[in-house]
Amino acid sequence: MRNRVEVMHGVNLDQLGRRDPAHYGGLTFEQLELQISDAAADLGLQTRFFQSNHEGAFVEHLHRLEGLADALVLNPGAWTHYSYAIRDALELTGLPAIEVHLSNVDAREPWRRHSVIRELCVGRVAGKGPDGYREALELLRARLEK
Ligand code: DQA
Repeated sequence: MRNRVEVMHGVNLDQLGRRDPAHYGGLTFEQLELQISDAAADLGLQTRFFQSNHEGAFVEHLHRLEGLADALVLNPGAWTHYSYAIRDALELTGLPAIEVHLSNVDAREPWRRHSVIRELCVGRVAGKGPDGYREALELLRARLEK
């Protein structure tokens, strides 16, 4: 089975432990990544992680995924809402991707409701905190098993 999932976090996600706990909970970024890798191991998926606060680095990482990943979990942070550069790079990968947000972006400021990557993704999970990543991994596993 194809089982390599690339988990990519964008801008400000590395600061998780310092961000508003009302939206993002109390976990640090390191704890979040551990939780995701445990969930992935349970599901028989291999994960690699990438985080950057630099849009170009995020784009170039997407460029380099060919042959290295079978699927993607993406939380681009604020870039979700406006980065057409990331959208185009995601399209280039041709990989099935799930968009994840820790917070309930649809119930926050209006600008957070718009996602430029949504139509390229096979699914979206928002507002479920760290558990949302497990749900995304489950969705991808079901897809990769087909
Ligand atoms: C986020 C939601 C975005 O609107 C915000 O800019 C983030 C995090 C989330 O995980 O809820 O940085 O993607």
